[in-house]
Amino acid sequence: MEQTRQLLDFLDGSPSCYHAAENVRRALLAAGFEQLWESSSWHLTPGRDYFTVRGDSSVIAFRAPQGAFSGFMIAAGHSDSPTFKVRETAEVPGPGGLLRLSVEPYGGMAMRSWLDRPLSVAGRAMVREGGRIVSRLVNVDRDLLVIPGVAIHMDREMNKGTALKANVDMLPLLAQGGEPGGFRRLIAESAGAAEANLLSTELFLYPRTRGTVTGLNGEFIAAPRLDDLQCVFGCLQGFLAAEAGGGMPVLAVFNNEEVGSGTRQGADSTFLTDVLERAAGGLGATGEAYRRLLAGSFLVSADNAHAIHPAHPEYADNNEFPVLNGGVVVKYNAAQRYTTDAVSDAVFRAVCARAGVPVQRYSNRADLPGGSTLGNISTAHLSIPSVDIGLPQLAMHSACEVAGVRDTDYLIRAMTAYFGCGLRVGPEGVELL
Ligand code: CO
Repeated sequence: MEQTRQLLDFLDGSPSCYHAAENVRRALLAAGFEQLWESSSWHLTPGRDYFTVRGDSSVIAFRAPQGAFSGFMIAAGHSDSPTFKVRETAEVPGPGGLLRLSVEPYGGMAMRSWLDRPLSVAGRAMVREGGRIVSRLVNVDRDLLVIPGVAIHMDREMNKGTALKANVDMLPLLAQGGEPGGFRRLIAESAGAAEANLLSTELFLYPRTRGTVTGLNGEFIAAPRLDDLQCVFGCLQGFLAAEAGGGMPVLAVFNNEEVGSGTRQGADSTFLTDVLERAAGGLGATGEAYRRLLAGSFLVSADNAHAIHPAHPEYADNNEFPVLNGGVVVKYNAAQRYTTDAVSDAVFRAVCARAGVPVQRYSNRADLPGGSTLGNISTAHLSIPSVDIGLPQLAMHSACEVAGVRDTDYLIRAMTAYFGCGLRVGPEGVELL
């Protein structure tokens, strides 16, 4: 129950990818990690813990082992979730003095789930402070907006599935009347800056719905952003709890997974390889020594998975469908959009067996393409064995998603065991250290 409370606090406290990264950063600092800056030189001490942040929204942390180590034991999740980005020219006047906000979709959300519920905005603002440009977190922490749907009396077909247009239907109602520029003033105030010093923003809508426990026996959680903050939380907790093992534990939280990862801080960037090279180099492993470490490394790509839906079991595969509260999900795909192969599957299952954690299988129904995730994008940069996993959930990419209350604990236990491992890879096979 305490773990669920902590997860819900993490979800509620992370209304944007920037807040999620900041909460990871704070947890690392509280655990004694030292923040490194990509623009400074790194002086690493064996036995110490470090992290660095890119783009205010991606974080990579590592624990420098005391002595020789077998390779990098990496787990990755993502900080972003589908939402709507607020345009810089934000206010759109309409009939009756109604003022709406100009927004555009970020990622593939279920649009109808964003209608008729209280929303607000969060993100970051660049502000001028003296001669510098600095980033400030912004969260307008009150019920500010709502995207009103049309009444069923005007659209009798809506329950048969009316198409929603992002540029017409999804603009949230901000105000009636008043002076123009009120939104900008509010954001400046939230950023703690004079309006003249507010330079630019990256702001996103978020549902005001707080995460909560549901179900007759409290067996579910309903919350925004479970994909993928539930996995980020589980990986982070395991990362912090793990005992030192044979490898170097590495936790990666990437932004921009929902828009394809192709940004400077996304999984399809040099961020991970940059950090690994510098971490290894700082501990004396360069050139061939670094390549040998890579040969003994492993990646867990943790991103939530579709549980079987009670109303629509036909969307699931006949055999390989996970259920809520059934344990950690390993994902398989013949086209390798999920990176799991026989080797990584066997290794990860051995880790879960060590932790006493149940494992479930997920395959897309063979005629459905499914989504892609972090694993295949990361391994394009870093060619190491990788497994795609996640926790089972329903209503993925809705403004309020549903997951099992017991699964977070399974992931934490699996990741605690994982980060405490190393791998010996050689002619005799693979051995968990
Ligand atoms: Co995801």
